[in-house]
Amino acid sequence: MKVLLIGSGGREHALAWKIAQSPLLDALYAAPGNPGIADHATLVSLDVEDHAAVIAFAKEKAIDFVVIGPEAPLVAGLADDLRAAGIATFGPSKAAAQLEGSKGFTKDLCARYDIPTGAYQRFKSAEPAKDYVRAQGAPIVIKADGLAAGKGVTVAMTEAEALAAIDDCFDGAFGAAGAEVVVEAFLDGEEASFFCLSDGKTALALATAQDHKRVGDGDTGPNTGGMGAYSPAPVMTSAMVERTMKEIIEPTISGMAKDGNPFSGVFFAGLMITAKGPELIEYNVRFGDPECQVLMMRLKSDLLPILYATATGTLDRVDAEWRDEAALTVVLASKGYPGAYDKNTPIAHIPEASEEAKVFHAGTALKDDRLVATGGRVLNVTALGKTVTEAQAHAYALADRVEWENGFCRRDIGWQAVAREKA
Ligand code: AMP
Ligand code: GLY
Repeated sequence: MKVLLIGSGGREHALAWKIAQSPLLDALYAAPGNPGIADHATLVSLDVEDHAAVIAFAKEKAIDFVVIGPEAPLVAGLADDLRAAGIATFGPSKAAAQLEGSKGFTKDLCARYDIPTGAYQRFKSAEPAKDYVRAQGAPIVIKADGLAAGKGVTVAMTEAEALAAIDDCFDGAFGAAGAEVVVEAFLDGEEASFFCLSDGKTALALATAQDHKRVGDGDTGPNTGGMGAYSPAPVMTSAMVERTMKEIIEPTISGMAKDGNPFSGVFFAGLMITAKGPELIEYNVRFGDPECQVLMMRLKSDLLPILYATATGTLDRVDAEWRDEAALTVVLASKGYPGAYDKNTPIAHIPEASEEAKVFHAGTALKDDRLVATGGRVLNVTALGKTVTEAQAHAYALADRVEWENGFCRRDIGWQAVAREKA
């Protein structure tokens, strides 16, 4: 099979690394890719916003299958255009990607199909939203409706904070994403991420993970795209996974199909495990970054036929096998992230990979043949271990061998699971 992978982050490096191990693979291309992905794929400098150019390239190279990593091209309808051109594609349609692109869309789906989630209302102007907050009281959660790069959510512990967040949204802090606001009940519990494939009819549960959104140790400081993750998430017992499939995933798949938007791709469900059970916080419609890195490290099966079955409506014919070990990834970021940071700082050394540990590239480039850091989140140091504690020790031992002066990382990724394992 000839495959084209779209994207350039750590998630796509993990996907490329795994796809490259498939005996079914004849050729792998990545657009635009990164220097880590270049170890497994031929990089192509395509403008992925130019759908016609992507299709022309796929036809020229006789690509059999396109795998789309990030959300932006999905929300822009790249999967629709590729499928219309007769090319099998992993990733949901533009209509189904609204599950990630519009929080209000997802909340309405939950309401229609009795999917457990926090009570909510949608608003197009500030005053009625504020009246609703005053009536409900704090804590309460304010969300910009659209894609806001993970920054559009305020968990307000006081009413004043909630009212200010509503003003921020309608004053344009998140651009068009904030033109509509969802006000939602605060859910109390432990968070977990659940990954599950769907071909529009059948579901295949993958695995669970927990991430670390705040930049600082002890979950302090501003939110980021994610500073590290581990899998599995201990709070997701098999009973909880079973309930999530039955109460959240299956009604979503049948509801989306009934509404004329069948979902094909990966569900990345953000869950809160409350006293009542699993409740949906949000859906993403692509693999998490860096959650994908720990999932790929634990996946024993060949990834390529699983993704292809998802895209071609044959998911009932495949299965996914997982290693029993835990995997943990530590994000090395540029000093200053998530604020301003220096670009093009040199990375002198990245240690070799082994069966049990690998450094994925997220924001790197080659400048005059030297590896430099170009992004905020730059490397994902990922390792396996018999326990999260052991995976954590392996990952930090490897991270400490990376030579990059301008990098930093959290030193406590996995702390919740490590504390549990000690208890
Ligand atoms: P989201 O972008 O929807 O994932 O929200 C970002 C973070 O805000 C989540 O990971 C949660 O930690 C928190 N959050 C979102 N919605 C709620 C809620 N209804 N109750 C409590 N925390 C929430
Ligand atoms: N790590 C969170 C995300 O990919 O959205």
